[in-house]
Amino acid sequence: MAQKKSTAIAHPNIAFIKYWGNADPNLRLPSNASISMNLDGLETITTIEYADNQIKHSLTINGLLQEPQKVNRLSAFLEMARKLYGFQGFLRIESQNNFPMGAGIASSASAFAALALALNDFFQLNLNQHQISALARLGSGSACRSIPAGFTEWKKGTSHQQSFATSIALEDHWDLHDCIIVVTAEEKAISSTDGHQRAATSPFQSARILDAQRRLEICRSAILKQDFERLAAIIELDSDMMHAVMMTSDPPINYWQPTSLSIMREVRDLRKKGVACAYTLDAGPNVHVICTAASVPAIEKSFRDYPGVEKILVAKTGKGARVI
Ligand code: PMV
Repeated sequence: MAQKKSTAIAHPNIAFIKYWGNADPNLRLPSNASISMNLDGLETITTIEYADNQIKHSLTINGLLQEPQKVNRLSAFLEMARKLYGFQGFLRIESQNNFPMGAGIASSASAFAALALALNDFFQLNLNQHQISALARLGSGSACRSIPAGFTEWKKGTSHQQSFATSIALEDHWDLHDCIIVVTAEEKAISSTDGHQRAATSPFQSARILDAQRRLEICRSAILKQDFERLAAIIELDSDMMHAVMMTSDPPINYWQPTSLSIMREVRDLRKKGVACAYTLDAGPNVHVICTAASVPAIEKSFRDYPGVEKILVAKTGKGARVI
């Protein structure tokens, strides 16, 4: 029996060890495992209910009814979910997002995480957290990491049921922050779904995958031991490796802008001067500066009036997705 309405909240996440490339694009089974941190304060809140007398799903984001192209991705996800869990009917989906979408701040991660959780509640599917994480993955791979709390790891798995994320440590384990230096809030030209398909065309992708286990172990242990120096080195290396793959794909993708690169250099200089900070970039030009709570004021001061910077969003480690 479906309930009348269900609402869930989820945070985006920033990957420390990145997911880039799929072993199975339909199921979004990744080529390598990944690790991320949920971002508190940035959120997607999604409500679903039946779209009475409708013959298709509808999606409203921040009050705007979405174009068919956006609804197609959603419909494909709902079709897969329906086949797996057997629910019926068309849905009216309303989302509120309090941060820029499609600009490398993982809006699809929080969107599909909130939706998967709302679906579980609405249709009373009684899925456990692993199953909800796997369901979110079908919409956007990185969404599976926004279901569990705090610092999370997505083990790649070789089937739908096995590919989900779990917590490495909860949100209060380590007072890390992500200062997102927004260079542009515009939607990116090449979606990550398209980018994943190009990953295998880069001669660097196989080397990146072969070395992934080593980077994952260093990252996991740096988080558990709260070793910022080790964390900084590994997340910068991992981000650079992913962007090297992107830049050498066929056709190539350049997400960095000149301002992104000068911010990255500045972050390294600040670290040499003793500010605990490190950069990482997802599929967009905005620079995520991961830092300790004590370093946040220095980061804000350095980049507040920096040429080319639109704004800075500051997020501490966030909780997992939840029904509200
Ligand atoms: O979940 P997707 O398909 O949007 O891919 C996410 C890709 C990156 O953000 C670049 C890396 C990651 O692991 O989040």
